Amino acid sequence: MKVTVVGAGAVGASCAEYIAIKNFASEVVLVDIKEGYAEGKAMDLMQTASLNGFDTKITGSTNDYSPTAGTDVAVITSGIPRKPGMTREELIGINAGIVKEVSGNILKHSPDAIIIVVSNPMDTMAYLVHKATDIPKNRIIGMGGALDSARFKYRLSDALECPASDVEGMVIGGHSDKGMVPLISKAVRNSIPVSELLSDEKQNWVVEETKVGGATLTGLLGTSAWYAPGAAVSELVRAIAQDSKKMFPCSALLEGEYGLNDLSIGVPCILGKNGIESIAEIELTDAEKNKLTESAEAVKKTNGLLDSVL
Ligand SMILES: NC(=O)c1ccc[n+]([C@@H]2O[C@H](COP(=O)([O-])OP(=O)(O)OC[C@H]3O[C@@H](n4cnc5c(N)ncnc54)[C@H](O)[C@@H]3O)[C@@H](O)[C@H]2O)c1
Repeated sequence: MKVTVVGAGAVGASCAEYIAIKNFASEVVLVDIKEGYAEGKAMDLMQTASLNGFDTKITGSTNDYSPTAGTDVAVITSGIPRKPGMTREELIGINAGIVKEVSGNILKHSPDAIIIVVSNPMDTMAYLVHKATDIPKNRIIGMGGALDSARFKYRLSDALECPASDVEGMVIGGHSDKGMVPLISKAVRNSIPVSELLSDEKQNWVVEETKVGGATLTGLLGTSAWYAPGAAVSELVRAIAQDSKKMFPCSALLEGEYGLNDLSIGVPCILGKNGIESIAEIELTDAEKNKLTESAEAVKKTNGLLDSVL
């Protein structure tokens, strides 16, 4: 398994680190436009190999994609992150051009690569990769829901005063403060619905804190978070590497699923060696269906801003 991570910034380096520590990939290539930056991050990470006990080889490249040839999975994290007070949608002007160029460069050297899109606004950037390339839809995966679900489980564990490993929960919909749909109706602590364990007020607190999970961290850090995003990406890459058929909410191109068409948005996906092996259509409450539809309308509005780059 050869993985390329474009963008050796905070999220890209965290992706490379978690992929290496989990020790399932033979090689990770970091690419950045900043001279020497990817090489430096790669060397620093390689100096943790004997300490952390991994065999994955990490290398870096400044804007040269030839070392990425033969990549199985490419992760796009290049572009600017948001600053406190900004929405993810406000990044589109700069990031759309970068994501389009980077996806072309990846495919030039690795025409069979599966692409995981991380750069924001992520659902729109994933849609852009669908429009700008001719690769099949199963090979374009937007990462947002896996992170938002981890943040949901963190808040659930806080409210339930239990370890996060005791809870299950999923966030679907757009990867934005307003568009996320945390499925509180389906969240459980060891098979017990959380609705039996938490007051309505507490459930509402969990949902609202989950939705602003990224913004809360951006306010604290002055830029967007990287540990949980990197860990979430590494889990998607592992599911592909190990052909595990695990389910993660990912931004996928919809063609009628959930009554939605012609957009990429977060829905439960089964991941395996082909990328998105299938989309699971689960039963939603009427309120959740309405929220998903509203979220899709907002994503489509942002997609409308892509005209100048397409
Ligand atoms: N989808 C998610 O869940 C999620 C989570 C966190 C961050 N993000 C997004 O990920 C992106 C990266 O965030 P970050 O915190 O790592 O930012 P960062 O500024 O730390 O890193 C971005 C890197 O991209 C590089 N870059 C810019 N243009 C490039 C190009 N054309 N080719 C190669 N490299 C290029 C920059 O030099 C920089 O090193 C942002 O858009 C952010 O909003 C998404």
